Amino acid sequence: MAETVTITDLEGGVRLITLNRPQKKNALTGAMYDAMREALAGADASENIGAVVFGGQPGMFSAGNDLADFMGGAAGGFSASPALAFIRQLARTRTPMVAAIDGIAVGIGATLSLHCDLVYASPAARLRMPFVELGLVPEAASSYLLPLRVGRLKATELLLLSQPLNADEALALGLVNGVLPADMLLEQAIAQAAKLAALPRGALAASRALIRGDQAQVEAALEAEARAFDAQLRSPESQERLAAFLSRAKPASSA
Ligand code: COA
Repeated sequence: MAETVTITDLEGGVRLITLNRPQKKNALTGAMYDAMREALAGADASENIGAVVFGGQPGMFSAGNDLADFMGGAAGGFSASPALAFIRQLARTRTPMVAAIDGIAVGIGATLSLHCDLVYASPAARLRMPFVELGLVPEAASSYLLPLRVGRLKATELLLLSQPLNADEALALGLVNGVLPADMLLEQAIAQAAKLAALPRGALAASRALIRGDQAQVEAALEAEARAFDAQLRSPESQERLAAFLSRAKPASSA
């Protein structure tokens, strides 16, 4: 079976993390979170890696958490999940991170980018954070980071009303650095990551920490979200919404 996440160390000190589960729109499983978490921790521990790039497959960055894993409040709930372990690592990773978003980026597929230092999108990018619609709450510190980025009113549209964003809207809101043709997206993201990796490491790390602001607030937000997420995951309202997605009727033609 093909790896659902591939890790490739490129020239110039760039580690590429590629999501590779196209049959499920790159929905993230526990094994995928674990692979990404280890790749980030490994980047921090390596003198050779100076930047990380997240990429997906053509037309799909990620459909977010695998919703089947949320059913029945999987053992230990969200607090004990590989998803939360990944989110904690994501928030404290010291290596600069770059996202290349082509196509759908739902849930953690979108909120992951809030932790990235640079974000590039293709014209087909579609970001959506439908946590509340699913009976859940925002994660990955998005309830803290998104209002900081776009203001509380816009964040309310995105996080409570699950309003989708296309690439130009994301650019206008400052959620992406640039919109690039799909066939140039990854190459450009890697080139920008290589520029970061080539900078003096000490100055980069200190400057990055200054730009990113209060790390303790980010970590406090993601832990508070995790507690609320756990409670919601046990609620009938979320279990009903998740079951509805997973039991969607197939069109007759696909039978
Ligand atoms: N978890 C589990 N499976 C998922 C998934 C997810 N988050 N997203 C997509 N899939 C699966 C579908 O069930 C389908 O599987 P099947 O072929 O075995 O039935 C396959 O991936 C293809 O998805 P499909 O919905 O047919 O593709 P689409 O192009 O019509 O729509 C999305 C793509 C992403 C818009 C849609 O799949 C979707 O809304 N997914 C859920 C996203 C979500 O809510 N994520 C969690 C946020 S907290």
